[in-house]
Amino acid sequence: MPALDVLILAAGKGTRMKSDLPKVLHRVMGEPLLRHVVDAARALRPRRIGIIVGHRRELVVEEFQGDKSLAFVVQEEQKGTGHAIRCAQAKFARGGGHVMVLSGDVPLMRPETLHDLYRSHLEHDVAASVLTAVLDAPGSLGRIVRGRSGRLEKIVEARDATPEESAVKEINSGIYVFKKEALFAGLKKLEPHPPSGEFYLTDVVKDLVLGGRKVHAEIIMDPTEAFGINTRAELAEAHRALKARILEEHAEKGVIIVDPPTTYIAKGAVIGPGTVILPFSVISGAVNLGARCRIGPFAHLRPGTTIADGATIGNFVEVKNSAIGAGTAVCHLSYLGDATIGSRVNVGAGTITANFDGATKHVAVVEDDAKLGAGVVLIAPVRVGRRSVVGAGAVVTARHDVPEGTTVVGAPARALAAAPPKAKERKRAASPRREDQGTRVRRRQPAK
Ligand code: UD1
Ligand code: CA
Repeated sequence: MPALDVLILAAGKGTRMKSDLPKVLHRVMGEPLLRHVVDAARALRPRRIGIIVGHRRELVVEEFQGDKSLAFVVQEEQKGTGHAIRCAQAKFARGGGHVMVLSGDVPLMRPETLHDLYRSHLEHDVAASVLTAVLDAPGSLGRIVRGRSGRLEKIVEARDATPEESAVKEINSGIYVFKKEALFAGLKKLEPHPPSGEFYLTDVVKDLVLGGRKVHAEIIMDPTEAFGINTRAELAEAHRALKARILEEHAEKGVIIVDPPTTYIAKGAVIGPGTVILPFSVISGAVNLGARCRIGPFAHLRPGTTIADGATIGNFVEVKNSAIGAGTAVCHLSYLGDATIGSRVNVGAGTITANFDGATKHVAVVEDDAKLGAGVVLIAPVRVGRRSVVGAGAVVTARHDVPEGTTVVGAPARALAAAPPKAKERKRAASPRREDQGTRVRRRQPAK
């Protein structure tokens, strides 16, 4: 595909949010509006992404600090969307190709939709393409005015619309693709709109049509994608819509979400099929969860966490920046932070990793097949070896690692003196599979 640059409008104040924070930094599903837009833009793999910043721009730039793939363009005074793109002229007008314009306050746009818009823009070989949506309540959005032939003629802002134009239900999403030369030539000709004196980007579209250039209007299938945020009520609405969309996407991949209204899964989490998420569970970041796990009710999985297949994370368990092995069970009332827990480990009720010494976070490691009793405290850095047992209420102190196959008890935890093994136990040790089944009560299968 030919070269594409993306420009994102993010200079406005967002007066209707009634807040000091620039509008594009208000959060939906835990992330600033603008980050959702940048993520969607990045999925297109454009040549460059430019962000037009203005109002309290230091906060916007700080949010994306260190991200070298973004170029910031300053619009000192916010004189409208057309003026904003004109500010990008010096950095972006050179060279050929196309420019996609996105709005920093339209966060629900799917990358696939943007991709389809770009493809159809190229296929139709037009000077500009506008992404539109048909809404029952078009409110304050710009109206798409089509001529008799059905071709787009112009975009009229609600405030400037005649009653007939106001009745139009097809709206401008604020997302466009332009041939680069057509965009920057059109911007030069813009006139301010009285009484605000704003320069409308939408007038470039009208100008192209009047100049005999072809313009294409593409209607979005799912109009929630065009949802723009101007008020706090709309922010809450976008949050609800995105939350529901994420849950639906997981459900489509075979995740069993028992009670969607009480389940929160942040964008970017990966969950394997057959995993059950019970009510009131929160996955608050890009967590990686295996297949056939059981999560919740009331579980909290935080960023940096990886959970392997078949693990159980039960009620009132918080896991942060930790790796949990396959088949491991953490069933009740635990905090695991900066921990690496092996496979088939049983973490007893109320077990806590003390990962922070007041200055630094440390790692606790529990190796495969270990068993931690109820109310164990692991003071990191510490390691519990394979098949070891830590007795209920034990406090394993920092750097006092528990060697493989050892039982420790007490506070501070000490190894139990090894009693000479009885004949029966010697036999059992020879077949570790049975030992795995530990305290589980096994019933004989009734004879058929
Ligand atoms: C704009 C469109 C409207 C469309 C709607 C979709 C125009 C004239 N109108 O209206 O047709 O239906 O978006 O959401 O384009 N911004 C700047 N600099 C400025 C002004 C705005 O960067 O000088 C940014 C804002 O931060 C925002 C975006 O542009 O991210 C849209 O601005 P906004 O004022 O919200 O435009 P709307 O009135 O919603
Ligand atoms: Ca808007």
